[in-house]
Amino acid sequence: MTATAAPLLSVRDARMTFPGRRRSAPVRAVDGVSFDIAPGETLGLVGESGCGKSTTGRMIVRLLEPTAGSITYDGRDISRLGRRELKPLRRELQMVFQDPHSSLNPRQTVSRIIADPLLVQGTSQAEARRRAAELMELVGLIPEHLDRYPHEFSGGQAQRIGIARSLATGPRLVVADEPVSALDVSVQAQIVNLMERLRRELGLAYLFIAHDLSVVKRVCDRVAVMYLGRIVEIGAKERVYAAPAHPYTQALLSAVPLPDPAAERARERITLAGDPPSPAAPPPGCTFHPRCPKAQEICRTEAPLLRVAAPGEAREVACHFPGTAA
Ligand SMILES: Nc1ncnc2c1ncn2[C@@H]1O[C@H](COP(=O)(O)OP(=O)(O)OP(=O)(O)O)[C@@H](O)[C@H]1O
Ligand code: SF4
Ligand SMILES: [Mg+2]
Repeated sequence: MTATAAPLLSVRDARMTFPGRRRSAPVRAVDGVSFDIAPGETLGLVGESGCGKSTTGRMIVRLLEPTAGSITYDGRDISRLGRRELKPLRRELQMVFQDPHSSLNPRQTVSRIIADPLLVQGTSQAEARRRAAELMELVGLIPEHLDRYPHEFSGGQAQRIGIARSLATGPRLVVADEPVSALDVSVQAQIVNLMERLRRELGLAYLFIAHDLSVVKRVCDRVAVMYLGRIVEIGAKERVYAAPAHPYTQALLSAVPLPDPAAERARERITLAGDPPSPAAPPPGCTFHPRCPKAQEICRTEAPLLRVAAPGEAREVACHFPGTAA
């Protein structure tokens, strides 16, 4: 959490609890997360399915109101703002979704889709269309295709349209929720490269959500690893990738294939037992203990706090026995 500039976004102990279905216990989808994002910075957010990544992203762009905690954007607490107060903020906080085709209205032309956030903000039709053409070009599409419909585009092209739409109002922070997970592997790198270029050219900050650490490696400055609604490790990319301190991060990284075949054959894979527990009934102590290869007695009763792993290090970890080896 050592951002040099004043943070653009500060999340403090944010929680999102959904009511349980019928008589089941409430779901603690996000159970107290804190992090900052500086202007122009990319924070990667990774973790297994159901750990609360999307819920975190949706709270930040205020599609969801957090149950507790605060979200401060550009010095202002936005966590409790109502619909009318949020409207001007929608220009600055945008979201890109996982499945490009299902997030684009099939009955609208691309021009209309990209211009929609501008029309909502009161921009004239002609100006919105002109801007949509500009944005098409910016994301590597042909402006002459403005009057086509989403089904006429490939998955990668459709995601470019989703990105163009997110940029229409000139946001400063974009939450990209698994923007490449639904795309062919061959297209993923192109979209990641596009997002990286846009960040440089437009000075954007991203919260870049992904299942695995390999996807965010190229784009992120820092990375946060989530497990069962909490951040278990967060820090500078170089530190986390070179020497992961939390056993869960170590396991996630050990699943990422290495480019060098010899290194790939030689290294050890850490396989985690079972699936993550339900966020409606998290285990006591360290919630990772039932699956952790390093668990000791204390882990079953005492929850570790997120704290600096080594003095002066730009990385925090929530583990009683943080280390650099599994
Ligand atoms: N609206 C909701 N009502 C009830 N439970 C919800 C709701 N939205 C999410 N959840 C639950 O909250 C937990 C976190 O969900 P979330 O979608 O944030 O996870 P995720 O990390 O984005 O997962 P994935 O990788 O599958 O997208 C899950 O257990 C999910 O079932
Ligand atoms: S606190 Fe214990 S159970 Fe939790 S990650 Fe660390 S070693 Fe594993
Ligand atoms: Mg999700």
